[in-house]
Amino acid sequence: MGFLETKCTFSVLTKDLLESCNSFDCGHVDLNDFFTNDSQDYSSQLLGKSYCFLLDENPKDIVCAFTISNDSIKTNSLPNSRKKKVNKDIPRIKQFRSYPAVLIGRLGVNIKFKKNGIGKELMDFIKSWFIDPENKTGCRFVVVDSYNEEIPLTYYQRNDFQFLFSSEEQEIKYMDLPVEFELKTRLMYFDLIVLSSSDPNLKNTQD
Ligand SMILES: CC(C)(COP(=O)(O)OP(=O)(O)OC[C@H]1O[C@@H](n2cnc3c(N)ncnc32)[C@H](O)[C@@H]1OP(=O)(O)O)[C@@H](O)C(=O)NCCC(=O)NCCS
Repeated sequence: MGFLETKCTFSVLTKDLLESCNSFDCGHVDLNDFFTNDSQDYSSQLLGKSYCFLLDENPKDIVCAFTISNDSIKTNSLPNSRKKKVNKDIPRIKQFRSYPAVLIGRLGVNIKFKKNGIGKELMDFIKSWFIDPENKTGCRFVVVDSYNEEIPLTYYQRNDFQFLFSSEEQEIKYMDLPVEFELKTRLMYFDLIVLSSSDPNLKNTQD
């Protein structure tokens, strides 16, 4: 049983909660700023919904937070090799130009709690939401536009995400960006089909 499951309470990240909690610091200035100042506007504009886990021992401590939105993977805008990979486990007859996905727009673990497996537990929690039989829509992939920095890229790779484009050059080309563009983020994806609902590690933390 994980730390989030046993020692924390899950909640929507609301304005009241942000006002009553200690300021959230995941060690990334842009993310701290987003959760503190922008997450509520994103939510009221229906652009992204933010959630968090609060420490039971001290509910003023936000242990981790994340923001998710609907998204899709459009295979027409992928190189052939990647298109094949994305389509690989989808029956030919069901292959589309666009597959439903959920975007993890922001995600951070409080610096006080890092390197304890919370990031992994949080990712398993998010994945489990979208394979839940009661999920109201179909969702095949989890996608993320990860900061192009070693720690987040390693984190997503360790959590079985793959790059959508095999190199920065390829991503720049297929995203129609100028050749000299410096990529601040990299698109990554995870195919939810690989998860079996019987996997105990992916059991929803709220069960
Ligand atoms: C990236 C981030 C989410 C990872 O969170 P985390 O809770 O530290 O993640 P985990 O504990 O699951 O794994 C991190 C590392 O700790 C290690 N670890 C996990 N449990 C551990 C334990 N009990 N003891 C020691 N190390 C442990 C993992 O093996 C992993 O090792 P690695 O750094 O060599 O890959 C966190 O660093 C963060 O919030 N960063 C800033 C924001 C950010 O970059 N977000 C992602 C982009 S949107």
